[in-house]
Amino acid sequence: MTDLKRSILVTGGCGFIGSNFVRLCLERWPHARLVNLDKLTYAGNLSNLADIAADPRYRFVRGDICDAPLVDGLFNEEGFDTVVHFAAESHVDRSIDGPAEFIRTNIVGTFTLLEAARKLWSSGIQSSMSRVPRFLHVSTDEVYGSLGDTGLFTETTPYDPHSPYSASKAASDHLVSAYHHTYGLPTLVTNCSNNYGPYHFPEKLIPLIINNALNGRDLPVYGDGSNVRDWLYVVDHCAAILAVLEKGRVGETYNVGGNSEKPNLEVVETICDLLDARVGLLSTGKPRRTLIRFVKDRPGHDRRYAIDATKIRSELGWCPTVDFSEGIGRTIDWYLQHLDWVEQVTTGAYRDYYARHYGNR
Ligand code: NAD
Ligand code: TYD
Repeated sequence: MTDLKRSILVTGGCGFIGSNFVRLCLERWPHARLVNLDKLTYAGNLSNLADIAADPRYRFVRGDICDAPLVDGLFNEEGFDTVVHFAAESHVDRSIDGPAEFIRTNIVGTFTLLEAARKLWSSGIQSSMSRVPRFLHVSTDEVYGSLGDTGLFTETTPYDPHSPYSASKAASDHLVSAYHHTYGLPTLVTNCSNNYGPYHFPEKLIPLIINNALNGRDLPVYGDGSNVRDWLYVVDHCAAILAVLEKGRVGETYNVGGNSEKPNLEVVETICDLLDARVGLLSTGKPRRTLIRFVKDRPGHDRRYAIDATKIRSELGWCPTVDFSEGIGRTIDWYLQHLDWVEQVTTGAYRDYYARHYGNR
């Protein structure tokens, strides 16, 4: 194991993927120290990491990645040799309603972290560090735009983002690349397909459908439900990030995908059927598929995403271990066992968002 005294900054560790990553990282790398910097926006939840909060290897700092004095101070105090940067505004629909926060957090926030790492790692302190530093930027396949019925995104597919969210992520990817080429910053970028699994905030398709279907509410499907996403179980994504940190070549990008393309309608119908089987039909005696409603499409809705993960498989030996049928079953079981978590994250602000976004659709 290569974790000896690794000092890690995780940003956005209270979100969906970040919280799964923090848990896996502490489990796989028992000697690491990990600081989680998170602003706790609507998407961040301290209870996502309640089980490890008292771990002596872990420290939580509430703060904004755009706050340069705070970020610089943390880098100096902790002497990070590893950065795993998740913090972002991450929901396409919210980026259409209000792009400003996406520009701030996703672009300015990434810039702030790059500057802090550059300052510390070029200060001479690097030579006294027990590890060669690594800055891993977690990004998305959405930067590549939209595919037709054939083809896959590779690491050399030209960037062609279509939403304010994906454009802001693309900008941050370019900044990371520029810091590598210009300043020699030891960066790594991962571009991953759609994740699903525990602690997924119920504004994204899969957890929203599970929550609504459980409660007998309408299931909103944009357009005709034929848009395709490539689904990856979140723990497999986190394992890919650890593999890139351990064995990835500095300056490189690695695409991460589930090899599991599904049209949205099929995903929604699968969830309906699995819930019917687990908790019984609706109180009306009808199956949950009857709750499906086709609603007004998302503006600029990307047609299809699909990842070619050959590079990470052949260079680093990573591949997904949980296929969609197993992962979706596990995910539904997790939600059934954590109704209190869903209750806690879907109060006030969530209800306002839901009414605003779906009310007139
Ligand atoms: P999320 O929205 O669930 O969590 C984001 C976290 O970042 C939250 O804890 C939030 O409080 C924190 N945060 C937001 N703004 C911040 C700021 N200014 N300062 C500090 N913390 C801040 O997101 P996620 O789905 O876990 O995604 C994590 C990362 O992975 C993002 O960068 C996203 O672009 C990328 N990604 C997500 C997916 C996916 O399917 N969810 C797929 C590929 C890549
Ligand atoms: P989402 O989970 O928002 O992820 P992304 O847009 O980043 O891929 O959406 C996944 C797919 O599901 C996408 O094609 C949009 C669609 N969708 C719906 O049909 N209904 C919904 O209520 C939501 C949130 C998404």
